[in-house]
Amino acid sequence: MGDWWKKSVVYQIYPRSFKDSNGDGFGDLQGIIQKLDYLKELGIDVIWLSPVYDSPQQDNGYDIRDYRKMYGKFGTMEDMDELIQKAHDRGLKIVMDLVANHTSDEHRWFVESRKSGDNPYSGYYIWKDPKDGGGEPNNWGSSFCGSAWTYDGTRGQYYLHFYDKKQPDLNWENETVRREVYDLMKFWMDKGVDGWRMDVIASISKYTDFPDYPEEPGRRYYTGFMHSNGPRLHEYLQEMNREALAGYDCMTVGEAPGSTSENARLFVDPGRKELNMIFTFEHMNIDRIPGHVNRKWALKPFDVRDLKRVMSDWQEKLEGHGWNALYLENHDQPRVISRWGNDTCYRKECAKAYATILHGMKGTPYVYQGEEIGMVNASYQLEEYEDVEVKNALLELVEREKTISREEFQKAVWNKSRDNARTPMQWTDGENAGFTSGTPWFKVNPRYKEINVEEALKDQDSVFYYYQKLIRLRHQEEILTEGSYRLLLPEDESLFVYEREYRGRRWLVAANLTDRPVPAGRLDGILYPGCRAVIQNRPQILEDGMMQPYEAFIVES
Ligand code: NOJ
Repeated sequence: MGDWWKKSVVYQIYPRSFKDSNGDGFGDLQGIIQKLDYLKELGIDVIWLSPVYDSPQQDNGYDIRDYRKMYGKFGTMEDMDELIQKAHDRGLKIVMDLVANHTSDEHRWFVESRKSGDNPYSGYYIWKDPKDGGGEPNNWGSSFCGSAWTYDGTRGQYYLHFYDKKQPDLNWENETVRREVYDLMKFWMDKGVDGWRMDVIASISKYTDFPDYPEEPGRRYYTGFMHSNGPRLHEYLQEMNREALAGYDCMTVGEAPGSTSENARLFVDPGRKELNMIFTFEHMNIDRIPGHVNRKWALKPFDVRDLKRVMSDWQEKLEGHGWNALYLENHDQPRVISRWGNDTCYRKECAKAYATILHGMKGTPYVYQGEEIGMVNASYQLEEYEDVEVKNALLELVEREKTISREEFQKAVWNKSRDNARTPMQWTDGENAGFTSGTPWFKVNPRYKEINVEEALKDQDSVFYYYQKLIRLRHQEEILTEGSYRLLLPEDESLFVYEREYRGRRWLVAANLTDRPVPAGRLDGILYPGCRAVIQNRPQILEDGMMQPYEAFIVES
């Protein structure tokens, strides 16, 4: 089996927001087909589709009702077959989202399971009796706030859900459940799907003694280490390889909350036959206050040193032991230039600077739709948000527990909400940014007049063409895929600088991640004399003896 994914760049599509072909305001499969040539022009190799299966859409498709059917608003199975075919015709691969930690409560398995304790599906989910004296079986919390347990009157028991109560967790201890998952994977791979992004895969194995988290004053429910990396996780992943993946030439990337650069090798060491790569959250968590009761909404100011430390740690620890998945954005994260950069006067420079840092590293880069044109966060009023995570946090933290004021929460939502990345893709400066001819399911970001694909394709200096060049470099230059990594200036508060080296060649990757000029002297002894620029985001490198705001470049010695 090839490791084509090492030289690939993956583009993530969030289908409901990508392109609507039939005017119902909702992105669809035919819309994606219409844009395949655009993706080809960008130069990516693989498309990862967020879930397109039948779903009540409580969590925008991460709540699956039927794994072998398309959600009606996305299209039909014929549309899906056509998409796979047309992508393959263009040399593009398709990776699907495997959401198998949980299903929707409307999935047939759960509908049956909740009926009684003695039917063929009773053991498909995790059911527990109330604690002695009543109440939830333990103090585990849902990632979307509140308890991770919901009582079901018919069955007279609680079921576990690490996410919304409409997303019951599957019981992976049950061999029949595992077999069901492997079967559905084969169903899709037989259709030609080229791989899997595995949703919260690190959570599939549970601590079956269901221990309470140690209590802290002022807190009722807890999420954390017991929600992931359970005792049988790696046994399941190895079994999945043997039972489902073997014989198919596909790539796998697991979403691994709770993973560290230390335990990452357990997932990605090729000798262990588990996953090709994982998504860590460590760099995404640098701007939250650790252990805070308000979780991701407790903001900590961005410090570029934290970003360098975490990303470099993963580069170093996986060297020779496994492959990295490189990302700064996805459908769960805000736009990086709004989050940690500048999305106004240096918007383009900043987008290119982050792209340079990410695409210069070793691993497989992921581009999230709109990142390639420098899309920015949205600032809507709280009531306008669609995401279940925001809605639940508003009820739980602001209204019930009162651990965060409405004003503070509003600010945190502008900065961190997942909906920032879920606004419709901006194709043109026309009505609804060219996303739909109808009424979009979610408000278009008002900055679409200035930031859109049509505009980017006309402008030779656009973020789009910069990404195109970085992607081309990934295909052409072995130093990017194979070269070693060394962080330089770890304590510098503004610059992110590192070196790649391969077979006597040396590349220096550098970016000023602030909106202040920095004296070029800081690169003394580091910058190669008489070097050749590989890529740069300003007409002149180090103009006026300064590394200009958000200036970025790669040079060869
Ligand atoms: C991670 C997904 O990326 C996110 O969107 C979803 O809400 C949770 N897993 C639950 O499936």
